Amino acid sequence: MRIAIVGTGNVGRSLGEALSKSNDVVYGSRRPDEAKSRMGNANVASIDEAAKNADMIILAVPFGAAKEAIHEMHGAEKGKIIVDVSNPLDKNFKWAKGFSESAAEEIAKHAKDAKVVKAFNTIFAENMKTGQVGNEKLTTFIAGDDEDAKAKVMDLARSINMEPIDVGALDKARYIEPAGLLLIELGYGKKLGTGIGINLIKSS
Ligand SMILES: NC(=O)c1ccc[n+]([C@@H]2O[C@H](COP(=O)([O-])OP(=O)(O)OC[C@H]3O[C@@H](n4cnc5c(N)ncnc54)[C@H](OP(=O)(O)O)[C@@H]3O)[C@@H](O)[C@H]2O)c1
Repeated sequence: MRIAIVGTGNVGRSLGEALSKSNDVVYGSRRPDEAKSRMGNANVASIDEAAKNADMIILAVPFGAAKEAIHEMHGAEKGKIIVDVSNPLDKNFKWAKGFSESAAEEIAKHAKDAKVVKAFNTIFAENMKTGQVGNEKLTTFIAGDDEDAKAKVMDLARSINMEPIDVGALDKARYIEPAGLLLIELGYGKKLGTGIGINLIKSS
């Protein structure tokens, strides 16, 4: 699959490392030349070029920059899957959403003709490279309104060693996003570090 990863920060690079083993990954950056010099021989393009040539777009930018990043796609996102990985924090690293809204739903309003799927936000960037902490596979909670798009993102998660759990329609991101905040609070607030993760236990 051709995957555009928009954003060349911690999540973009970690997911890119994992996904490029079996996919054609191109990064979309606000400053592709600067990003290229930072990222060795990675394939980096402008945001619209990356999105135009991709089957799926992973939006790996801060929540506050999502609207602008979608705008920069200049319509190339139409009909495509956009994976929203964000944890909606404000400039002071405080929670920017309540329980009657979510970042994913807001992103879907900005990308009306795309199929938005929530995923990966409850996994610290460094653990995205392997999909696990220690010997344990990490769970990634998935939400989206388009069943086919959701299935494709779940397959993608499995391909990088994660355990996807379908939580339901996109508005279920209202439950998934606070779980990201819980992880951030434990990792940074309670100083457990980023070598932690969520693994949903099932009896069968
Ligand atoms: N870090 C984690 O462990 C983690 C885990 C799960 C989810 N998330 C979520 O994943 C997303 C990315 O997090 P990250 O840790 O990768 O962030 P980051 O290291 O700060 O990288 C974000 C990237 O987004 C791009 N970007 C576009 N517009 C931007 C703007 N206005 N301000 C800053 N960067 C902008 C930049 O790439 P260019 O300069 O190339 O354009 C930047 O490198 C966030 O929504 C976060 O909540 C993070």
